[in-house]
Amino acid sequence: MKNRKKPTKPKRATRTLFDRVGAQGWRDSGHFTFTVVSGALRGWIADRFPRAPRKVLSVGCGGGELERRLADAGHRVVGVDVSLAMLKSAHRRGMTAAVLGDAMNLPFPKASFDCVLLCETIGYVDLARAFGEANRVLNKRGRLLITTYAPAVAAHVRYRKYALDEIVPSLTGAHFRVAETRFLRVNRNTATVAPRPEDAKVLFIDARKDAGC
Ligand SMILES: C[S@@+](CC[C@H](N)C(=O)[O-])C[C@H]1O[C@@H](n2cnc3c(N)ncnc32)[C@H](O)[C@@H]1O
Repeated sequence: MKNRKKPTKPKRATRTLFDRVGAQGWRDSGHFTFTVVSGALRGWIADRFPRAPRKVLSVGCGGGELERRLADAGHRVVGVDVSLAMLKSAHRRGMTAAVLGDAMNLPFPKASFDCVLLCETIGYVDLARAFGEANRVLNKRGRLLITTYAPAVAAHVRYRKYALDEIVPSLTGAHFRVAETRFLRVNRNTATVAPRPEDAKVLFIDARKDAGC
C-alpha cells in the first residue's frame, strides 16, 4: 500500500472570505484579482492556449470570468473551488461544470485534463500538495498555468505571496518542467511583459508535465 500523507485542509477563514465575496461581490471585501479587473490579462492568458479545444480545469476558479473567456474560445472548462458562493457566481456567468472541491485533494481521476489553471490561488494552498494534485489530474502532455502577484504588489493579508524561487523548486518536485516565466504589467486595458520584475503586477508561469507539449 502506498504511504499517502493526509491531505492538508483549506483554511476555514479562506472559505468564509470567499463565501462573502461570492455572495456580495468584491467591493468592500478588501480584495480583488487582476484576472477579474483586467480584460487584457484574461486575453493575454487565453492567447497562451492553442486554437484546438482543450479540456481545462480551473482550480480556485472564483467567479469564472477568465473561464468564460476560455469557454467562448471553444475550450471545455471545469471549475473547482472551496467556496460554494463563488461557484454559484461562476455558474451564473455560464460555467455549467462547477465543482465544490479542494486544490489539495482534487475530486477528479488521474489524467482527466489537458490544462490546469491556478490563477491568483496558490497563496491559499500548500504548493507541494496542489502541484502534486495538478500533476495527477493532467494527462501526460499536460500543462499547468499559474498567475500570482509580482514582488511589488501588496497581496491580501490571507494570501501567501510565494516568490518565484520558492515556486520553481515546488514545481520541479512535483515533476513539472518550467517552460516560461513572465512578469507582467497589467492595467484594465493592457497586459504587457514588464522590463523588470519590480515594474510588474502579475507573475505568470507555464509549466509542462513533460517535454512533449
Ligand atoms: C483570489 S480568488 C481567485 C479567483 C480566480 N481564479 C481569479 O483569478 O479571479 C481565489 C479563489 O481560490 C479559492 N480557493 C482558496 N483556497 C482553495 C482551495 N484550497 N481549493 C480550491 N479553491 C480554493 C477561493 O475560494 C477563491 O475563489
